[in-house]
Amino acid sequence: MMKKLVILTMLMAAAYAQMDLTERGKQIFLKYNCNICHAPKNDAARVGPSLETIAIHYLGNERKLIDFLKGNANPIIEPQRFMIMKPQLYKTKHMFEEDYRALAYYLTSVHKNQ
Ligand code: HEC
Repeated sequence: MMKKLVILTMLMAAAYAQMDLTERGKQIFLKYNCNICHAPKNDAARVGPSLETIAIHYLGNERKLIDFLKGNANPIIEPQRFMIMKPQLYKTKHMFEEDYRALAYYLTSVHKNQ
């Protein structure tokens, strides 16, 4: 009984921590105007791929997404149009590690919490 309660509390704490991460990532996303080119779900709505498409490629591989945001990994979604995205990376180049985690979490979160 006690053990179940402990596990439940831990699960709830983890869920809260993830909610914070998504919210924080969203704030960074909006602060840097990423939403101008990235819509939540419709690729055709904006210049860049939607968050849904980003999630399809990076969900479960947030480490690689962080490398991309740091400018340390090549694009995998539309490399032929990377010249439009590349100048944006100066905004995300020097962030705190925790902010990379939050932004990567948000970028892949379309189906996680919404
Ligand atoms: C001027 C339009 C524009 C803005 C603003 C923009 N992007 Fe992009 N983004 C693109 C385009 C176009 C692509 C497709 C090229 C590519 O795949 O790199 C892209 C691709 C991406 C990808 C997929 C990379 C891959 O592996 O192919 C990620 C992740 C991304 N953007 C995140 C961001 C974030 C975070 C911001 C805000 C700091 C941002 N974008 C701002 C246009 C933009």
